[in-house]
Amino acid sequence: MIETERLVLRLYTHDDADRLFDMMRRIEVAKWSGEGVPMKTIDEAHTRIDRMPSRAGDRPEAGVFAVERKDNGVVAGMAVLVPIPASKDVDREDEEIGWHLHPDSWGNGFATEAASALVARGFAAGLTELYAVTKPDNGPSQAVCRRLGMEDLGLRTDWYDQELRAFCLKGPGEPVK
Ligand SMILES: CC(C)(COP(=O)(O)OP(=O)(O)OC[C@H]1O[C@@H](n2cnc3c(N)ncnc32)[C@H](O)[C@@H]1OP(=O)(O)O)[C@@H](O)C(=O)NCCC(=O)NCCS
Repeated sequence: MIETERLVLRLYTHDDADRLFDMMRRIEVAKWSGEGVPMKTIDEAHTRIDRMPSRAGDRPEAGVFAVERKDNGVVAGMAVLVPIPASKDVDREDEEIGWHLHPDSWGNGFATEAASALVARGFAAGLTELYAVTKPDNGPSQAVCRRLGMEDLGLRTDWYDQELRAFCLKGPGEPVK
């Protein structure tokens, strides 16, 4: 469990399936990740929760976290610190931070607050840099990257076999290359 001023980040359980489904069934959330297809059934939320541990791989600091508000216990959304899949024929191993909030929780600073905690967790675990990748026109997510102090790397094809706008944050003491 990770605690911030207003949030608790904890692993998902199947009790979170309804709320996860209510976030990912919405096109305004789903369109920004993967194939951009909204969830259609609650079963997809349960399957996603089952697969979360494998997304973290063998990295102890990694995880897919439910972002719970301290004031009312509602899960505002999801924040991740996970290995990022390199594109085919690209030889690199990186970790990414990422975020999705339910629309009812946008505009409160929750994504930035949750991601800041994951940045601290990643660097405390010895990572020297963290990446975030966004669809090229995802302004709100790019704004989160900027609020975190990430460097804009422009459009890159190193990850997910797609052209994505990438951002990088170097750990304390790491030179910016
Ligand atoms: C990307 C996404 C998480 C950004 O959410 P967000 O609420 O805009 O981002 P933050 O949580 O950092 O909140 C920042 C906003 O809260 C406001 N805010 C209000 N109270 C605040 C507080 N106490 N502290 C900080 N910010 C606060 C900020 O002013 C800012 O608003 P602005 O954009 O109008 O200036 C959200 O748009 C989303 O879930 N989108 C769909 C999924 C998605 O795109 N995921 C990313 C895939 S790469």
